[in-house]
Amino acid sequence: MTMELNGKRIVVGVTGGIAAYKAAELVRLLIRQGADVQVAMTDGATHFVTSTTFQALSGKPVYVDQWDARMPNAMAHIDLSRRADLILIAPASADFLARIAHGMANDLLATMVLARNCPLLVAPAMNRQMWENPATQRNVACLQGDGVQILGPASGEQACGENGQGRMLEPEEILDRVQTFFVPKLLAGRKVLITAGPTFEAIDPVRGITNLSSGRMGYALARAAQQAGAEVTLVSGPVAFSAPQGVDRINVRSALDMHAAVMVRATDADIFIAVAAVADYRVANAAEHKLKKDHGGVPLIELIENPDILAEVAALKDGPFCVGFAAESHNLEAYAQAKRRKKNIPLIAGNLIQDGFGGDANRLILFDDTGTHPLAPASKEELSRQLIEHIAKLTGAH
Ligand code: C5P
Repeated sequence: MTMELNGKRIVVGVTGGIAAYKAAELVRLLIRQGADVQVAMTDGATHFVTSTTFQALSGKPVYVDQWDARMPNAMAHIDLSRRADLILIAPASADFLARIAHGMANDLLATMVLARNCPLLVAPAMNRQMWENPATQRNVACLQGDGVQILGPASGEQACGENGQGRMLEPEEILDRVQTFFVPKLLAGRKVLITAGPTFEAIDPVRGITNLSSGRMGYALARAAQQAGAEVTLVSGPVAFSAPQGVDRINVRSALDMHAAVMVRATDADIFIAVAAVADYRVANAAEHKLKKDHGGVPLIELIENPDILAEVAALKDGPFCVGFAAESHNLEAYAQAKRRKKNIPLIAGNLIQDGFGGDANRLILFDDTGTHPLAPASKEELSRQLIEHIAKLTGAH
């Protein structure tokens, strides 16, 4: 769990569509992230999923009826929207989009949307023809013009059997967008280049030398930078993750590939964060064909040094603000500081290998010109958020 949604009051508005069943999962995910969720449904939505489902998941009575007697002042539409940090409509039907685009207030949920003083996010879900209809497109453009954020829709197979655009985003994707919405945009407009994962140096077509690195820290940083409003390019060695939402990923294998991919992009970047566990050496005499055991005894592997990508970027004239990582097994402070000086970089994040390798959590100490800043042990996601904040502060963003 990360901190973005902790204690955030979110009204989830469910409207009539088959995707309403996915809203149940969405409510569960939001609650798991610590959000305080109040569900309101249109009458149409209750034909797809009952209010009991949402009441059980959110632990709160669900509001459907504009004339609900439970609010003593009979002003549920005002009270519920005033308490909210965000209204999220998922799924948003074509009819509901049309109504709110025109400021209609003909049921409780539409009235809440009209009466709100908080941001509004909507996740449309409908048949592709309904989505493509100029009337819907007009309504969507109109809502965007009013500052409403439209999430999706995605394309793919639809409940009606057709294929096209109009599917609601999956609950996990909506959760991701909602989290991003709450992250302060400390790096808005900045271009951030990140390396992550290990490199793989071939010995022959099926064997190689590599470093142990899951890529988790680099991917978490890419996501945190993207959520903070940066335009993120992630140059990644072979890892098991998919690219975070909105991040441009360049796949590489060897240190030389990574070096080339970084150097062509480095001068365009404002910030470079080198998280990759780059192999220090590559094989000079890599074999074109698979080495065979019975061919002249033990093969000799000759190594030559790989370029130091971070040091090279740091040496660029008008290059980006450079951040390095130092994973050490002991003497962390001395080694990290020495590395910072040798590579001539303003900021290095040090961690002890035994604290973070491969796992979800880590312990980081930041070393920069102003001193030493230990961060409390936390998940790699939370540490990434704090590191991005620190970088934003040092680079004078906002
Ligand atoms: O020199 P060392 O590998 O200990 O330094 C670690 C830091 O330098 C990390 O930020 C790593 O991504 C970066 N690095 C690099 N190119 C290399 C070796 C390390 O960018 N060839």
